[in-house]
Amino acid sequence: MTLDDLQFLLSSEGEQWLKDTARSRFGFVVTPITPHNHLQIAAQLRQQLPPTQAQAIMETVMLRQQAAVKFSRADQMFFTRPALEQASAETISHYRAQRFAAAGFRQVADLGCGIGGDALALAAHAHVTGIEWDAVRLAMAQENVRVYGHGAQFHPLQADLVELTPLPAEAVFFDPARRDEHGRRFHSVHQYQPPLNLVERWGAHTAVKVSPAIDYAEIPPGVEAEFISLTGDMKECVLWAGDLRSDANRRATLLPEGHSLTDADLPAQPTPVTAVGHYLYEPDSAVIRAHLVEALAQQLGANKIDEEIAYLTSDDPQETPFAKRYVVEAVRPFQLKQLRHYLHQNQIGQVTVKKRGSPLEPEKLQRQLRLTGPKENHRILFLTHIQGKPSVIIGWEDK
Ligand SMILES: C[S@@+](CC[C@H](N)C(=O)[O-])C[C@H]1O[C@@H](n2cnc3c(N)ncnc32)[C@H](O)[C@@H]1O
Repeated sequence: MTLDDLQFLLSSEGEQWLKDTARSRFGFVVTPITPHNHLQIAAQLRQQLPPTQAQAIMETVMLRQQAAVKFSRADQMFFTRPALEQASAETISHYRAQRFAAAGFRQVADLGCGIGGDALALAAHAHVTGIEWDAVRLAMAQENVRVYGHGAQFHPLQADLVELTPLPAEAVFFDPARRDEHGRRFHSVHQYQPPLNLVERWGAHTAVKVSPAIDYAEIPPGVEAEFISLTGDMKECVLWAGDLRSDANRRATLLPEGHSLTDADLPAQPTPVTAVGHYLYEPDSAVIRAHLVEALAQQLGANKIDEEIAYLTSDDPQETPFAKRYVVEAVRPFQLKQLRHYLHQNQIGQVTVKKRGSPLEPEKLQRQLRLTGPKENHRILFLTHIQGKPSVIIGWEDK
């Protein structure tokens, strides 16, 4: 999409086309664009508009539909496909923006602001200079921040971050690109575009969004590393420095509720390893990535089932937002024949296979089990090792 195409989309004519296309009428049925009707709708648009404008309308309507999982106002926003993929989801950007606000910063630079997924939240609390080298993304960011009601707080600046110093801001949010132009993932923070160490130029109070799979050895000293999950899915790590950091070195935060656990919650003594009790806990991915499983064990009064495995166990049911809890029905050394026998004897018709520390392939095991029981008779199989031995724990989720 070019700036001219975007200008067309922003005109009253473009706005009308976007509205009409989003609610395409087939007979009396109003339907969104789907893989089944999109060719027909695109052909209709091309009959009435120049090709690039027809394409821009079609793309925007489809991307708005897809963006609804990230943005509550997606139906009014503007995206390109790669920029939408890179954009922070609103729940996370609002959470982060609150940390900037709590630290008292009122002039923030959003470095590599893309289509404004973060700027729209930061600008609710501060004046935000959004810096981006791609003119179309920057113009989209300006419009998207306006959609959230904070247009007057957003100041776009088209520039190459590598050449920019100093910055017109008290604090900095930096979200470098973690994939190349072909969509290939960079595995090291030194490959990010721009690389992480550029942040050193921009002052003390910085927050950088990095991959949740970041190698711990690449986390700079003196920062707080916050691992964030959203409804149980691991999303990102944020490195907080200067007045933006808390006393914690590592933090696991679960959104949307905002529960958080830190290394200050770690016990003085290592968590004991015991036999599996009546309940098994599967910690949230953020807790595991933040290396805080023992902090959770301490909170629950739970034990580990193996030194290396991130499952916890207890005999009493403990409530926690930081883990899923399962009722343990049986624990066995792993042997296919015995497992099959157990499941047949108990007339199990369906299993969900989870694994941690096991080389077995869940799909292959599913086929090998040849279950015959009724489908509603369901169990969860945890393939793991217990005190070094390949094992299976059989149970169900305790909701
Ligand atoms: C991960 S995206 C940012 C997404 C944004 N935070 C959001 O939520 O919408 C990174 C952005 O940095 C921009 N970028 C990469 N290198 C840059 C550079 N040297 N100067 C300016 N912008 C750059 C890319 O064009 C891209 O839009």
